[in-house]
Amino acid sequence: MVRSRVEAAWPAQRWLAALIAVLPFLAFMLDVVLRPREAAAEALSLALVSLEGAWAITGGLLFLFVIGHMLGNLQIFVGPEQINAYGHFLQHTPEILWPARIGLLALVVLHIWSAIQVSLENKAARPVGYAGNPKPVATNFASRTLLMSGLIIAAFIVYHLLHFTVQVKALNLTGQDFISLHDEKQRHDVYRMMIVGFSSPWVSGFYILAMALLCLHLSHGVSSMFQTLGLKNKAWGVLIDRFAKLAAAGIFLGNCSIPVAILLRCIK
Ligand code: HEM
Repeated sequence: MVRSRVEAAWPAQRWLAALIAVLPFLAFMLDVVLRPREAAAEALSLALVSLEGAWAITGGLLFLFVIGHMLGNLQIFVGPEQINAYGHFLQHTPEILWPARIGLLALVVLHIWSAIQVSLENKAARPVGYAGNPKPVATNFASRTLLMSGLIIAAFIVYHLLHFTVQVKALNLTGQDFISLHDEKQRHDVYRMMIVGFSSPWVSGFYILAMALLCLHLSHGVSSMFQTLGLKNKAWGVLIDRFAKLAAAGIFLGNCSIPVAILLRCIK
């Protein structure tokens, strides 16, 4: 009974009409299959979107880390008790320390890897430069040097970890063993480590140079992150660009204030 109802509702003409209706869709599918180059280009651009997405999200999280780390370090201006208690808390809370370390490492690796992939794919898409090497129009110095400044910052991070976390004596250029520094409460003396560490003008100079590159990197990277995530439009574009530059300048001034204050003996 039911079968005969279906047959009644779908006579041969209706089947034909349905086939004609899906023909444009079938034609579209055939077009995609028969034009592999176009389909491949579309797949590539989809991959690029997700690669750039990973690049932007990891960059955003690292930006938040840099701000948090700077706020933590600025506690040096409150005094030894404050920064040593903070350092002691972090070092003796493995449930925060290790997930943060592993997460940071993963973020850095993913950020650098996706940045290199995007750069290689951009180069592959346009292997020959424009004739006469004209001045780029829609880019500025910060955006053109994004990959290079990022790689130098990565080299700085390796030095920084050996300097203040692993505390390799030969690399601090002061002759002082940072591991042996303890305050009267027998906590690691992070305050003294920074005072001694930045008393070397070479080391301080290197940190200030690295912070200048970080500032350059962030001044473009932060606004490009909003763009990639589709959060930058005409109305907000100018504000976002200003925010990126202001945040980069704030991070530069905040971080550099520590070696500069130590070199000028404002804190000792
Ligand atoms: C002038 C700027 C900076 C100062 C004064 C500074 C200071 C420090 C100090 C004192 C430590 C050791 C903390 C401890 O032993 O408790 C540390 C660790 C660290 N810093 Fe910085 N830092 C600066 C910039 C940066 C920047 C720009 C980055 C990353 C982009 C960074 C990433 C790290 C990391 C990943 C650690 C290791 C944390 C750990 O696993 O123990 N630092 N920093």
